[in-house]
Amino acid sequence: MSRPIIFCTRRLPQDPREILGDAFELRTHGADRPITRAELLDAVKGVSGLLCLLSDRIDRELFEAAGPSLKVVANFAVGYNNIDVAEAARRSVTVTNTPDVLSEATADLAWALLFAASRRVIEGDRMMREGRFHGWEPEMLLGQDITGATLGIIGSGRIGTAMASKARAFRMRVLYTGSKKRPEFEAATGGTFVGLEELLSQCDFLSLHCPLSPATTHLIDEAALARMKPTAVLINTARGPVVDEEALVRSLKAGRIAAAGLDVYEREPAMAAGLSELPNVVLLPHLGSATLGTRRKMVQLAASNIRAVLEGRAPATPVHA
Ligand code: GLV
Repeated sequence: MSRPIIFCTRRLPQDPREILGDAFELRTHGADRPITRAELLDAVKGVSGLLCLLSDRIDRELFEAAGPSLKVVANFAVGYNNIDVAEAARRSVTVTNTPDVLSEATADLAWALLFAASRRVIEGDRMMREGRFHGWEPEMLLGQDITGATLGIIGSGRIGTAMASKARAFRMRVLYTGSKKRPEFEAATGGTFVGLEELLSQCDFLSLHCPLSPATTHLIDEAALARMKPTAVLINTARGPVVDEEALVRSLKAGRIAAAGLDVYEREPAMAAGLSELPNVVLLPHLGSATLGTRRKMVQLAASNIRAVLEGRAPATPVHA
């Protein structure tokens, strides 16, 4: 008897077969590059499960191409703005993501960006490599103080909570905003709920951890950036379109904010014109969850979600429209 097929859109840091067992046939996009749209639509025909990346668009066209055999889409990411979850629900396809297992790694990377951008780590490294360090100078590469400063958080879920909890080590004041107060966030971080405008004008560091939705698209636009302190540093490890990237380039260029640390981009993998020429921005290629340990946990969670659905059990981490 033929086994249900699971298609995985990229080689992963652990073989999902270790979790799936022998009851399924796993097919994996073999090339060492992102799958093309045409390849994806072709590969999903007749599959029962799909293990996909945040860069794979899972929409009506894809569900049509897969056909009625498709029962579960497991996103290898916590964010699932790449998936039309309402369309999946209409077709009784379960969608899952990988929350929790990547929260600490992503928060750690946000801190790496915060340190690098505010203490000018990349500019200093470049100076050394280019032989431009001619001796200690009192005014060379002056940055921002971190200990005792105010950290603003937008997105007080798991990753925002992990980010803000670590601020305690630096005796920082934590402010957060959102649609409502979050007692769990406050208990874990000592943070104080404020409105968006107050958050923007008070924080020394603004770190974004909200999901991408119509409400958060361009939440940080020209007007929001103008409310921030000229010494403030913006960190984005959430989703690129939360920030109006062209407005950010203008603000950084004009010194309306001091610096930014970005892991995500509006039109990934492209960047807004002028961004890469700015010295006061640190740029990473979407590395939030990129540790071997975390990525392996993400494989295990995604694969066990697929297995659960195809065996008629509830997956650990479903998402809903
Ligand atoms: C990464 O960006 C994720 O959503 O897991």
